[in-house]
Amino acid sequence: MGSSLFANSGSLYSKSHRVFLDKSGQTEKINDLIQLCIPPLINEKKIVKEQSLNVLSIGSGNGQADLFVLKVIKEELMKTDLGHSVKIFNRAIDPNLYSCDLYRAAIENLPRPLNDGKVAFEICQQSFEEYQESHREPLSFDIVHFIHSIYYVDIEKALLHCFEKELSGKGKIICIASRRGLICSVVSKLQQKLQWHVGSEIYDVVDKMIQIANKNGWKIEVHDQEYSIDVTEVFDPHSTEGNLLLDFLTQTENFRNTEDKEFVEETLSFIRDLTYVKGGKFFGEKKESLVVISSRISSRYFEVTSISLIYSLTFSRKKELLFWLSRGLNRLTYKSGQTEKINDLLQLHIPPLVPTKIPQERSLNILSIGSGNGQTDLSFLRVIKEELIKTDRAQCEDLQPSH
Ligand SMILES: C[S@@+](CC[C@H](N)C(=O)[O-])C[C@H]1O[C@@H](n2cnc3c(N)ncnc32)[C@H](O)[C@@H]1O
Repeated sequence: MGSSLFANSGSLYSKSHRVFLDKSGQTEKINDLIQLCIPPLINEKKIVKEQSLNVLSIGSGNGQADLFVLKVIKEELMKTDLGHSVKIFNRAIDPNLYSCDLYRAAIENLPRPLNDGKVAFEICQQSFEEYQESHREPLSFDIVHFIHSIYYVDIEKALLHCFEKELSGKGKIICIASRRGLICSVVSKLQQKLQWHVGSEIYDVVDKMIQIANKNGWKIEVHDQEYSIDVTEVFDPHSTEGNLLLDFLTQTENFRNTEDKEFVEETLSFIRDLTYVKGGKFFGEKKESLVVISSRISSRYFEVTSISLIYSLTFSRKKELLFWLSRGLNRLTYKSGQTEKINDLLQLHIPPLVPTKIPQERSLNILSIGSGNGQTDLSFLRVIKEELIKTDRAQCEDLQPSH
């Protein structure tokens, strides 16, 4: 019986993963997703004000994906004046000793723009479960990411831990994970038969994350992509690369030689059934998503507002209530602190909505329905204007509110 690829803390996992990356082109595909999805998060968070940015990478492997994430963050920060002085701290967690050593070697010679002395690393050779029990310096992370590693932990427990113990208030959890496709089908078929432990159901972790986010009231955004993996060599018993790829697909060390022959044949024909043939090669579907999870600060603020309203009304004397009703909303608004609460909400949620690409006419039109005395409209416009000024676009914008 083959053992889990992860039980091997030497180079085997790394070699097998390397072949998988080459045959799928996953690195480039992931990089495209990261390049697309991370910059808007950096802008949204107003990180530059804080002069520091903390990133936690769980299941960091040899650090290749981590370094790309950091490069994208750094390049985004450098678009702003203060970007050059922001310090970035990256804590990486992975139980595989060989991968951690490769990571350490990679950071000795950091590529540009990470080599300016403003990026610091801590590499923790331990599983996420061990990390949770360890007493590392508690830090507030702006980004926590799991790049193709969420499969190996209990998803809900891991996300809850990150929200409670790791993430800053405006922080984001980013997961990149495979969805239904060749690799997920193979692993989920073999899961019953394989004797190694996988922390969570592997077949569609993204559906699972959506479920967990809805249950906990978190905000979740999903970006999907599809491509293919060339598995031709898996069918050649003499191919070293083929055998390493088979190990990765089955997540089992030396699968072809350690499992019984009948089971190996059954698995190979299962893989073949999941492929299509093109130019004499066998390709399997690969689907993956980048998921961004964050807390719904807005709804908490709403709760606070309504709680204070209910409190004031419930505990006020009847006479005072009548007074409020007769004097109208102004007094009620004052008593509840609603104006400040709304302003907080606007400040938090409007900036990310301000379009980065301005239409040709270079104007922004806003329709306010039920505008009242215009007080909230003016706060709204102020937030938009401030956001535009940051991007040097304000001078060429005409804000045109219509009531
Ligand atoms: C598919 S690799 C991804 C590596 C890296 N993030 C990348 O994208 O190149 C999954 C990584 O998760 C790590 N891993 C497995 N179980 C883990 C656990 N319980 N806690 C943290 N990392 C784990 C493995 O050692 C491996 O390096």
